[in-house]
Amino acid sequence: MSAVGVVAAAGSGSRLGADRPKALVELAGRPLVAWAVETLLAGGVDEVVVTVPAAERAGFAAALPGRVRLVEGGATRTASVRAGLAAAGPGADVVLVHDAARPLTPPDVVARVLAALAAGAPAVVPVLPVVDTTVVVDDGGLVTDAVPRARLRRVQTPQGFHRATLVAAYAGLAEGVELTDDAAVVRAAGVPVATVEGDERAAKVTVPHDLHLAGLLVAR
Ligand code: C5P
Repeated sequence: MSAVGVVAAAGSGSRLGADRPKALVELAGRPLVAWAVETLLAGGVDEVVVTVPAAERAGFAAALPGRVRLVEGGATRTASVRAGLAAAGPGADVVLVHDAARPLTPPDVVARVLAALAAGAPAVVPVLPVVDTTVVVDDGGLVTDAVPRARLRRVQTPQGFHRATLVAAYAGLAEGVELTDDAAVVRAAGVPVATVEGDERAAKVTVPHDLHLAGLLVAR
């Protein structure tokens, strides 16, 4: 089973307050995108395509090994993954879509996703339980409901798919529809999505506090 990784790295990083794309922000001296690519390769992915902001190609080329292919991303994550998938070509059996913003994802998570795909799942996501009480609020901030959390899960990346399944799901997604992850795209096409155990270290770096925590983890 051959696997291609598509790393979504074309975001701006505005919530991180960075002066460059988030994927080029450094963690322990290495850009976030370099950590994410290394995780995929160490976990068993054969080749990697990275979607980058058009104006930043040179910075990404300098940050990544030569075997990694760079393609121009889009204005939204959905558009970026579409571009990465098109560039990934028909050679691979499975595709793993990963966020550059999850630099400390252990390779074990990649291996679990690949194993579930090899066992026949058409789509698989790493998940973690929700540990906090989770509520619904109204426009005024008042709690209107509490959601039973036993069946709730937080969804991480890399998310894995049989390539043809993901390509067909994106082809069937109307232009302009934006979904926050790729499992939502295949679910919209009626494909069942399996789960494997995620990892707290695969947390997404969004705000400065997340980067600070990631730095502490690396130092440890
Ligand atoms: O903004 P957020 O952190 O949710 O983005 C998740 C991932 O999607 C990031 O790795 C980011 O670089 C990527 N992204 C993208 N193209 C965009 C927006 C986000 O590849 N237009």
